[in-house]
Amino acid sequence: MNTSPLSPVSYETRDDIALIRVNNPPVNALSHAVRVGLADAFDQFDKSADAKIAVILCEGRTFFAGADIKEFGKPIAEPWLPEQFSRIEALDKPVVSVLHGTALGGGLEFALATHWRIAMPGAKVGLPEVHLGILPGAGGTQRLPRLAGVEKALDMITSGRHVGAAEALEAGIVDEISDAADIETAGMDFARKILDQNKGVRRTGDLTVAGVSDGIFDEWRSKLSRKTRGQLSPLHCIEAVRAASELPIIEGLKREGELFKELMASSQREGLIHAFFIERQVGKLPELAGVAPRPTDHIGIIGGGTMGAGIATACLLSGVSITLVERDEAAADKAQDTIAGYLAASVKRGKLTAEKRSAILDGALNCVTDYSALSDVDMVIEAVFENMEVKKEVFAKLDALCKPGAVLATNTSYLDINEIAAVTSRPADVIGLHFFSPAHVMKLLEVVVPDATAPEVVATGFALAKRLRKIAVRAGVCDGFIGNRILAKYRTAADHMVLDGASPFQIDKVLTAFGFAMGPYEVADLAGLDIGWATRKRKRAEGMHPSARDFTYADKLCESGHFGQKTGAGYYVYEKGKRGGTPNPQVLELIEAERAEKGITPRDFTDAEIIRRYMGAMVNESANIVAEGIARRPLDVDMTLLAGYGFPRYHGGPMKYADIQGLASILADLEEFAQTDAWFWEPAQLIKDLVARGDDFASLNR
Ligand code: CAA
Ligand code: NAI
Repeated sequence: MNTSPLSPVSYETRDDIALIRVNNPPVNALSHAVRVGLADAFDQFDKSADAKIAVILCEGRTFFAGADIKEFGKPIAEPWLPEQFSRIEALDKPVVSVLHGTALGGGLEFALATHWRIAMPGAKVGLPEVHLGILPGAGGTQRLPRLAGVEKALDMITSGRHVGAAEALEAGIVDEISDAADIETAGMDFARKILDQNKGVRRTGDLTVAGVSDGIFDEWRSKLSRKTRGQLSPLHCIEAVRAASELPIIEGLKREGELFKELMASSQREGLIHAFFIERQVGKLPELAGVAPRPTDHIGIIGGGTMGAGIATACLLSGVSITLVERDEAAADKAQDTIAGYLAASVKRGKLTAEKRSAILDGALNCVTDYSALSDVDMVIEAVFENMEVKKEVFAKLDALCKPGAVLATNTSYLDINEIAAVTSRPADVIGLHFFSPAHVMKLLEVVVPDATAPEVVATGFALAKRLRKIAVRAGVCDGFIGNRILAKYRTAADHMVLDGASPFQIDKVLTAFGFAMGPYEVADLAGLDIGWATRKRKRAEGMHPSARDFTYADKLCESGHFGQKTGAGYYVYEKGKRGGTPNPQVLELIEAERAEKGITPRDFTDAEIIRRYMGAMVNESANIVAEGIARRPLDVDMTLLAGYGFPRYHGGPMKYADIQGLASILADLEEFAQTDAWFWEPAQLIKDLVARGDDFASLNR
């Protein structure tokens, strides 16, 4: 038995079987201490005269879930995984891996280098490195195609998907699915069988790669280049698998190592790993530690329009019962039909069975017109028109009839939730739950916290998000909260560039090449140009700041009935049955007329300047939002933009992007732009302070 009490790896011999156990909670990441422990254990096994076979298994919930991602970006201490795995493969005595939980990344690569692999029935395997901006760099791209063929390897490595035990068995990735009661029995029984049958070692690296057809790599390359929007890792993964098909294992591993190093050095790796960690950090708020949420089993929804129907669908799909209140019978029936349609689409996509859909429609959904049906619900989410008077009326009614302790939530996009809470006798129970459209699809939920809200009500917002498999971000009350307030700024920066000479089409093209899912004008067409039109009207009515630059070309589009996709034309013209649109020439005419009227001589914008201005405006407003406490930490802003606004994950979010660029260079851009528009581009004090003390946004996440 290994006597070092500190090592996460222990070694013992039972008759002629060496049992190597790893215990590195929570997910048995292959940290430095684990690698050192494994090196010692395999030395011992190699030298042992007694041990004829080794069984390796992990304690706790999973086999190794991969390399320790926290070590990335720093010099990685020896022993290194690729060498360690090759050494295990080269041993003269067999090694058996027992897989349970999620054998991912370096975990699966470890198993592929051992000679035999058995899986427990619920085990999953996968090589998810592509999502971290890297590739499986410990032999995965060379050994998986040798076991499972090129097509399967390309599928698994470029998608990063988790594959169940049965599929892994069929693909030749594991040798057997064990029906033993526990992993230890499974491993010991299998090892005994290998010894009894004298099966010995079986090296994956000695196999040849099957399934290499003409053009397969080029096909995958062209298929993925379109989908991955500038992300490097999927294409590097293809190159690594190509190397497996062309080179002997030793040279293939070398090539894999070179490609791995290139990705490790890229800022995309930094961005994607930041995204991985903040997704797990965003819900960890000191104010919520130990606070129990209230129940969310029965929720009332007021208003069954675009948002109400989507929110109801999201809840129903997660086992929540819904009572939806509309203004009249016709609207209630319409809401019922919309939700039934969304659920039917879920059945079509295989997310829900037809029986479950019927059960939901028969039992869990109730669309009514009478508010008294809400007297016993755990929570109400209001999604009526965006109008303060209407919302106040609704909240006064809810206050009068909901049971004590019911959470009263509003889905408002912009309105002051403190003002809404003030019409009730229980402001501690009032909160904003800002869903995004379509609410049954979009991942983000802004949990907007007014002044008087009780911590357990905030905890209930986070718990509901988790139940709906959404990502919740805490936001404070202001015009637009985190996401829409930042959006308003970068959209305005784009609108200014259009006034000054850029075309909306150039801006969309540059930003999609930067990695955004859509450009701002494509988004506007999708959401409906009437939304921006209404906002401009509201701002004019409220009285705009004297330095704000107003424009009317987009109003003119709306006046002629062009609201974007829903009317067939907006910034783009949409033909029925075709995906995407083509630039609408009328837009450029309207813009040119407005420039002439305003005496603006148009100038050219380089693609780089478009990005500097768009990102500069985004980062600057993000900094203001953090300084004001609307977002508690920069990571909350990053998560909001990643989960709700199509921000390219490989840039990590606007604040991570700013850190990667260097805050001094962002500040220099803001100061340069401020020379011609001091009001709009006034640099955030927080950025100035951080630059002065040589710090970055990340320092505020810690
Ligand atoms: N390294 C370091 N920490 C890790 C980790 C890893 N590979 N995987 C998970 N963690 C941490 C998480 O950050 C989290 O920490 P906190 O509790 O402090 O927030 C904790 O482990 C638990 O993780 P989850 O909350 O995600 O737990 P889960 O049960 O929901 O999911 C999981 C478990 C499926 C393993 C998920 O954590 C996961 O997908 N992990 C990443 C797997 C991965 O990408 N592996 C490849 C690594 S890269 C590699 O291996 C390179 C190579 O080629 C050698
Ligand atoms: P919508 O106009 O599609 O739906 C509103 C619904 O509320 C209508 O069906 C209407 O009949 C109903 N309604 C109005 N007054 C009512 C009352 N007193 N009692 C019961 N029902 C009533 O509006 P939409 O888009 O669903 O927006 C709802 C709320 O969600 C607004 O506050 C909006 O700002 C917010 N929101 C909208 C988003 C969007 O993309 N549409 C995104 C996020 C938030």
